[in-house]
Amino acid sequence: MARIRIQDENREISDPQEICEFLKPHGIWYEKWDVEGRIGAEATSEEILAAYAPEIARLKAAGGFVTADVINVSPATPNLDAMLAKFNKEHTHSEDEVRFTVRGSGVFHIHPKTGPVFAIQVESGDLINVPCGTQHWFDLCNDRTIRCIRLFQDQSGWTPHYVEHSVHEKYSPVCLGPHYVKGAAEFQPVVKV
Ligand SMILES: [Fe+2]
Repeated sequence: MARIRIQDENREISDPQEICEFLKPHGIWYEKWDVEGRIGAEATSEEILAAYAPEIARLKAAGGFVTADVINVSPATPNLDAMLAKFNKEHTHSEDEVRFTVRGSGVFHIHPKTGPVFAIQVESGDLINVPCGTQHWFDLCNDRTIRCIRLFQDQSGWTPHYVEHSVHEKYSPVCLGPHYVKGAAEFQPVVKV
């Protein structure tokens, strides 16, 4: 279940409906997809894409996405720290960043044009988008594990454009548990559809 933390206001939101309402003015949509029994623990990327094909088709039709893939990151991922360092600094993209978390967890921080910075923790079953041009950054949680379906409008658009006068160092990831690991990732696509 996703949750939101507004550090500057010392406030958290965990109710799914309240999360949707909070995110809506920022152009961010949040959906909770049913994950129970959809895939096995050792599912391949192809099996994951097949299992969620109806949802992927709906998003493609609605949002102009042309491709989807699955990324798989774990502590065993080669060069993980270097990858993590690419996206834990405030940046934007020239297309939407759309992620459905199949397994693991992570935290998106959003720095809106108006209002305080807020964090969205995503876990298995959570779908969110980070709209084109939105200032944000991403960290993994302490298990350094995330498996996501990504959707792209144009894969070349998903490049970080770093923000001048960034604020990411003022905010801590809010992953559940006593520890966190700062980081984020540029992941190699495993499979495309
Ligand atoms: Fe990003």
